Amino acid sequence: MTTAIKQEELPWHLQGNWAPVQDEVTTTDLAVEGEIPRDLNGIYIRNGMNPRSGWSDHWFFGNGMVHGVELADGKASYRNRYVKTPYYEHDMNVLSAMADSKASPANTHVFRHAGRILTLEEAHVPWEIDRKLETVGPVDFGGKLDRAFTAHPRICPETGEMLAFGYSPMLPPHLVYYRIDPQGNLVQFEPIEIPRPVMMHDWNVTRNHVVFMDLPIIFALEEGGFVFKEECGARLGVMPRNGTNADVRWFEINPCYVFHPLNSYEDGNTIVLHVCRQPHSMKGGMQDVGNKEDTSARLWRWTIDLVSGRVKEEQIDDAPGDFPRVDDRRVGLKARYGYTLGMVPMTGSPRYDRWVYKYDLETGTRRVHDLGKNVGGGEPVFAPRSPDAGEDDGFVLLIAHDERQNQSSLVVLDAQNIEAAPIAIVKLPQRVPYGAHGNWLAD
Ligand SMILES: [Fe+2]
Repeated sequence: MTTAIKQEELPWHLQGNWAPVQDEVTTTDLAVEGEIPRDLNGIYIRNGMNPRSGWSDHWFFGNGMVHGVELADGKASYRNRYVKTPYYEHDMNVLSAMADSKASPANTHVFRHAGRILTLEEAHVPWEIDRKLETVGPVDFGGKLDRAFTAHPRICPETGEMLAFGYSPMLPPHLVYYRIDPQGNLVQFEPIEIPRPVMMHDWNVTRNHVVFMDLPIIFALEEGGFVFKEECGARLGVMPRNGTNADVRWFEINPCYVFHPLNSYEDGNTIVLHVCRQPHSMKGGMQDVGNKEDTSARLWRWTIDLVSGRVKEEQIDDAPGDFPRVDDRRVGLKARYGYTLGMVPMTGSPRYDRWVYKYDLETGTRRVHDLGKNVGGGEPVFAPRSPDAGEDDGFVLLIAHDERQNQSSLVVLDAQNIEAAPIAIVKLPQRVPYGAHGNWLAD
């Protein structure tokens, strides 16, 4: 990076703890405040944007860097690695990378499925990494995938299938549904018709259905890319998981944007979705990522009535929050508890707050963990105490950053006692930039 640019003149996504780190490090036997539960053995991996050159034109475009905190027998170690795709090797710009389905920044999420750890970004194919976070290679499912794959697949806890989709702003089909069997084979490739190309960051699955979100962040080349257009309307598309484009039923909703749903499930003749809903996003184009008062995400419930064809839309909390997660064992099933990260409202750019929220969706109540003054949190990921533990019997894991002390930590909370002081705070050996999503991969 040229040193001529002053820190405060950088775009928000390169300032403070959004700024990338340079070094790949490996450190064992980390200092811990409190005690790492002996039940927690595995690795927490979190992905995020970390532009190798120090510069990226947009938050979304930085190179992917994965941070892994391994917990074993009460001890912790840390390592971080770039995902070494062509986008990393050649320092590509986003347009040249668009032309190559393997040139992924691989910067958004990480999942384990069929024995492979996948790093994901939404415009390219997944990239596999190994348990040491070293890059293995692109995953094209035996040559069957040469196009976009979402950063938000869902792994069905009942069948072991991975359900996914890809959206393409330039070339039709603008939306494709993918079904991957428990062994990791791509067994369905189903183009889905939508009226115009949209940004479809995430979606919903239930036991028998998937629900696409056709929301009006529209790709308009003549307007420089993605832009929110309320007049295009908004619809939810319900399709049986083994269905085809011909089976999709579309349900009108009020225009809005949802980056992240919490979870969804079937209840009689309805499908219930909990989502972090923003009134709009990117009205001023792609750089306008929001987080003003009217673009903050808040928890809503959408109930799709499959008989009447109507959708009931209810706001269920007024606290700004995003990065919603449920217990992964309840994905697509009725879950009682959900976790989100508070977002600082009205800053004009995303800012991760000090609040971790635990929702009881049955009673409609919210409990709060305060990470502390000057601390920014991260996506709260639930890790069960054991494979058959009850729904909230376990831990909430996140990477938090204390901006005053310039100290990043893996914070381990007791999910059943979320307000309490953390069970463990694992001090990480270098700053971990605010990033995107992650997962706990239990051994
Ligand atoms: Fe996301």
